[in-house]
Amino acid sequence: MTIPDQQALKIAVARAAVAEVSAGSILGVGTGSTVDCFIDELARARVGLKAAISSSRRSAARLESLGYRVVGLESLQAPMDLYIDGADEINSALCMIKGGGAALTQEKIVASAAKRFICIVDASKRVEVLGKFPLPIEVIESAITPVSWAIRAMGGDPVVRPGVITDNGHPIIDVHGLSITDPVAMETAINQIPGVVANGIFALRRADLALVASAQGVARLQ
Ligand code: 5RP
Repeated sequence: MTIPDQQALKIAVARAAVAEVSAGSILGVGTGSTVDCFIDELARARVGLKAAISSSRRSAARLESLGYRVVGLESLQAPMDLYIDGADEINSALCMIKGGGAALTQEKIVASAAKRFICIVDASKRVEVLGKFPLPIEVIESAITPVSWAIRAMGGDPVVRPGVITDNGHPIIDVHGLSITDPVAMETAINQIPGVVANGIFALRRADLALVASAQGVARLQ
């Protein structure tokens, strides 16, 4: 058997996620290369939506180019049924690190407006302990120095991501060297630092289901 490359795994997990989408629904859509595959597969399967709510300009542009209507959260009367997004790391409790694509704040906001969060990844994203992938933090620019002090006091090594400004107009600090054994506690602690807009730990709102693609197929973790 040939080993599927990472792109083939992204397409496989994207197809599995399409099967979770109800036609005619309002769907929350994340950001990243796996989500790009998901959007393409959704269109290829001709799944019609009432509307999509996007976590980024990037995904909104892709959705609209394929004929989907993209609306804002103000259009919702109640939480939408489903949000689908990728992750940079995911542990067995379905806590994640996200934000490699710099969309973490909007991703948290859109996820918070959904009843169910499905995370779509290939198996390379599964970890025992979160933190090998540098933790993205969106910050107010003037707060970079004190936020960096606070992060160093927590044992991390903060590096401002060069040349990146989020859709919200803020820089990103990537924190290296963390071993996040208690994701809820660390997410909560980082949120308390003045100047932090959002951090990339998704533990207070973890995924409800992870679809994980590997050479053996797509596994469902919950
Ligand atoms: C963007 C994200 C993405 O979900 C994450 O970076 C995974 O991306 P990819 O599917 O390209 O590996 O959090 O902010």
